[in-house]
Amino acid sequence: MAEAIRVHGLVKRYGPLAAVDGVDFKVPMGQVFAFLGPNGAGKTTTVEILEGLRNRTAGEVSVLGLDPWSQGRQLHQQIGVIPQEFRFFEKTRPAEAIRYYGVLFGTHPDPAELLARVRLSDKADANFDTLSGGQKQKLGLALALVSEPKVLFLDEPTTGLDPSARRGIWDVIRNLRSEGRTVFLTTHYLEEAELLADQVAIIHHGKIIAEGTSSSIIAAHGRPERLRVEGPPSLAEYLRSHVGLPVTVDRGQIEVALRDKHDPIRVLTAIEESGIPWKDFGTVHDTLEDVFIQMVGEMDEGEVAAGRST
Ligand SMILES: Nc1ncnc2c1ncn2[C@@H]1O[C@H](COP(=O)(O)OP(=O)(O)O)[C@@H](O)[C@H]1O
Ligand SMILES: [Mg+2]
Repeated sequence: MAEAIRVHGLVKRYGPLAAVDGVDFKVPMGQVFAFLGPNGAGKTTTVEILEGLRNRTAGEVSVLGLDPWSQGRQLHQQIGVIPQEFRFFEKTRPAEAIRYYGVLFGTHPDPAELLARVRLSDKADANFDTLSGGQKQKLGLALALVSEPKVLFLDEPTTGLDPSARRGIWDVIRNLRSEGRTVFLTTHYLEEAELLADQVAIIHHGKIIAEGTSSSIIAAHGRPERLRVEGPPSLAEYLRSHVGLPVTVDRGQIEVALRDKHDPIRVLTAIEESGIPWKDFGTVHDTLEDVFIQMVGEMDEGEVAAGRST
């Protein structure tokens, strides 16, 4: 089977609210898929429908060829789940928790090996309540791996973690991918999706507003590459009249939009010829975060405008 997850026309309503409002996507086997969006976008609702924990209002959903709601029992043997804000009994130790999960799943996990895979070996015998946020998430990952699932669902695994703990989780996710597992990850950190995911879907108010690889999303919706230089307003004026490219000024930074590979040299030559002092030039590319902020900003302005006209 080429696809681990298929979703078509998915809708979830809570009373009058369409929390998920007609969503389509496919996740190929063996990929990391990032489901990206701000708080309240509909991420957890979607994940929990895929996990078979919530029923849907409408649409088709298949995970490993199964309907998560009507074939949940079969599905649960093949997926691993870490809920948002994973918790465990306070006095349980990681190695113990893994043995306990082994009993539940009827498998015989090796706690030392699993804890090594999630880089938590040094905490095998520490009480759960003494673990840091990142270590708790790592235990969640180890427990999700007890059944050796083909597909893992991680709902905001790095939210609230410090930068080094987040990198630790990224390492483990990369490792899961290299083991050939499919990872469905929700996050509101755009750079995390950009770094980890093969495919990204951005959800906003229950609708997917962009999807593809991060570079294809940036290419489709981002601004062109720019050359940035620091200099006085007179330099911006000079460039405006001498290079024939769009020039913008933002907090003392002058940006010149580039169209082709010869433009940077033309711009630099013009800067030199101007005789105006300048420093620190470089090129700037939009990140997924830039694109997201731009798209969501435009959509929200559209909503405000639509609200006014009615
Ligand atoms: N059980 C529920 N009952 C009513 N509304 C809900 C319920 N769960 C989520 N919502 C609402 O649905 C929207 C999407 O929530 P959620 O899927 O948790 O978003 P995310 O995980 O992206 O933050 C939010 O407006 C939230 O308040
Ligand atoms: Mg959520």
